[in-house]
Amino acid sequence: MKKILAINGSYRDDGITDQTVNKMLNTVKAFGADVELVLLRDYPIEFCLNCRECTQLPGDMPAECVQHDGMKKLVDKIEWADGYILASPTNFGSVTAVFKRFMERLVVYAYWSWEMNAPKYRKAEAEKKKAVLISSCAAPGLLGRWLYGTHSQLKMTVKIIGADTVGTIFTGMISKQPDPELPEKVNSKITKLAEKLVST
Ligand SMILES: Cc1cc2nc3c(=O)[nH]c(=O)nc-3n(C[C@H](O)[C@H](O)[C@H](O)COP(=O)(O)O)c2cc1C
Repeated sequence: MKKILAINGSYRDDGITDQTVNKMLNTVKAFGADVELVLLRDYPIEFCLNCRECTQLPGDMPAECVQHDGMKKLVDKIEWADGYILASPTNFGSVTAVFKRFMERLVVYAYWSWEMNAPKYRKAEAEKKKAVLISSCAAPGLLGRWLYGTHSQLKMTVKIIGADTVGTIFTGMISKQPDPELPEKVNSKITKLAEKLVST
């Protein structure tokens, strides 16, 4: 049974990001996957301290952070999963602040001793897991996907945890109603990508 972890960086209950993630989770579940959802807005994660204690020793597995908050449990969930759904709305041209805070704590996935000029990703040589990316914005979806930093930030997150992106859902024109509804055309893409995510 495939294990799929969704990490959602939206601030809003039942906004477009929640609707897309929940539909994707229900679909992968219907395909037989075991699923787990982490809502970053409710999750206890502190800011990275930039101390780089966690980056000093080599190894293929994520290192321990000096901070004892929810991140350790979240890293365990990331290791447990075979595939990911990573989601964040676009705010001021980037992922949300809660998603960025989570991303920075993923430095435990980097080996970067003080002598090294640049980090080496611990999962660089590992067999790749799969990930689907979800975002939304007020601009037209295609424009937002290329114009903003969100897509490349989500892709960077995928890379550091040792996965490859198998598809993206970037829904645009989300700003005209207080309670937006997922456009009908997104449903077939959700089914297609859910199938890709759980296939071997
Ligand atoms: C603080 C803030 C900043 C935003 N910045 C942008 C932006 O730079 N570009 C854009 O197209 N939409 C922007 N938006 C619109 C959001 O991307 C849009 O409302 C989002 O899809 C909402 O996601 P949700 O329904 O999951 O809450 C912004 C919204 C807020 C509240």
